[in-house]
Amino acid sequence: MVGGNWKCNGTKESIETLCASLSTLELPSDANVEVMIAPSSLHATMTRSLLPEVYQIGVQNCWTGKGGAFTGESSAEMIKDLGIDWVIIGHSERRHLPILKESDETIAQKVAYALEKGLKVMPCIGELLEEREAGKTNEVNERQLKAIADAVTDWTNVVLAYEPVWAIGTGKVATPEQAQEVHAHLRAWISDNVSVEVAQSVRILYGGSVSPKNCEELSKQPDVDGFLVGGASLKPDFITVIKSYE
Ligand code: G3P
Repeated sequence: MVGGNWKCNGTKESIETLCASLSTLELPSDANVEVMIAPSSLHATMTRSLLPEVYQIGVQNCWTGKGGAFTGESSAEMIKDLGIDWVIIGHSERRHLPILKESDETIAQKVAYALEKGLKVMPCIGELLEEREAGKTNEVNERQLKAIADAVTDWTNVVLAYEPVWAIGTGKVATPEQAQEVHAHLRAWISDNVSVEVAQSVRILYGGSVSPKNCEELSKQPDVDGFLVGGASLKPDFITVIKSYE
């Protein structure tokens, strides 16, 4: 699976241009790769209307529960009602930006509610550079993964994204070995703490400076099941990244 996280980017014109470019990709409905595009929530229905059905559409966040007096928020029900299938939850920018600081508990609450309301969920985990340098990569990712796993009873509609924070938007992509090491550890944790079946079936995506230049090598790693791409997904050669899993 390859996801494109457009983050807080895009104008009507730029999205029309990018969708026209992405629409040139002959992606058969039975392609080996699933593609999910997550524009800003403001642009979700427009993007849905501009892309062929073979592209799945998501948003980048949702509220923790039923809608109501929560100014500025979007509920899972609202997202589903618009025919949007996916929601990214717990992106590191929502965990670590001082103005947001989403906790493991909040993220778990969002995951549980979004799944309950029938959305497909892409929870994100990943360590900070200082945590990696302190040898805490596994400890941090296990803590974040446990909070998510405790909120999930059925993993059918869950695709996990591992995004080392130090690789996001920096151009410092994890090496294939670094990515494989963490992905294998996450899969082993799931096998030990959830089930062997879930460990064997759940897709674990890598995110963090993925580009047309590095996607081929990363895609060859046995436990890297796809990508969640930021900057490179806003460019026409995002198609090259998609094709690395075709
Ligand atoms: O969610 C994907 C994103 O965090 C990765 O960003 O720009 O490093 O590909 P980027």
